[in-house]
Amino acid sequence: MLITFEGLDGSGKTTQIARLAPWLTAQGYSVLTLREPGGTTVGDALRTMLHDPAFGELCAHTELLLYSASRAQLVAERIRPHLAQGGIVLCDRFADSTLAYQGYGRGLPLDFLRQLQAFVTQEVQPALTIYMEIPVEESLRRRVLSGEFNRMDQQDIGFYQRVALGYRELIAQEPHRWHVVDAMLPPDQVEQHLRALIAAQVARLYHS
Ligand code: TMP
Repeated sequence: MLITFEGLDGSGKTTQIARLAPWLTAQGYSVLTLREPGGTTVGDALRTMLHDPAFGELCAHTELLLYSASRAQLVAERIRPHLAQGGIVLCDRFADSTLAYQGYGRGLPLDFLRQLQAFVTQEVQPALTIYMEIPVEESLRRRVLSGEFNRMDQQDIGFYQRVALGYRELIAQEPHRWHVVDAMLPPDQVEQHLRALIAAQVARLYHS
């Protein structure tokens, strides 16, 4: 079972994945946690390239292909083998990030992006996608507080507003797959909420 986590930067995806993985492992599941871009040797090299502000001149098309290349390798090398063994994969970002950031954010054509994502993911689809929702202003504030800064953090606020609206459209298009979580709640509450949600999904897929 593939569960993906999406949201603006600073929405707490990484924190929640780090909490949920040991909880699932303690129940006997084989859990793999991954983040995009990266997760493979070539993917980590692509991540360095994508995050380094020195590569600020990447055009949108190049950016799209580098994120997609990282994902293709991750699916082939890590995700598919783990799913084939019946494991659970928790992935920090997946194809929806490309639709939100390169599609809605950069304005690249969504139909083409969908085809490309079906190709690079070999049609592997998340059973559940969790959207950690925070306002755009809060995302920018948290990023400043964290002191982290990468090439994608150089966009103006309009870019992140388009990304947030894009996520909302993606959710409206496939409401059965997405689950929206109020990521402004304290992390413990978010975790309890996610545990209940994932437990129900696991019960459906593994014990029905
Ligand atoms: P993160 O590792 O802090 O989440 O940073 C990843 C950045 O890359 C984030 O700003 C979102 C962006 N991104 C895309 O623009 N497209 C993608 O397909 C992915 C996976 C990430």
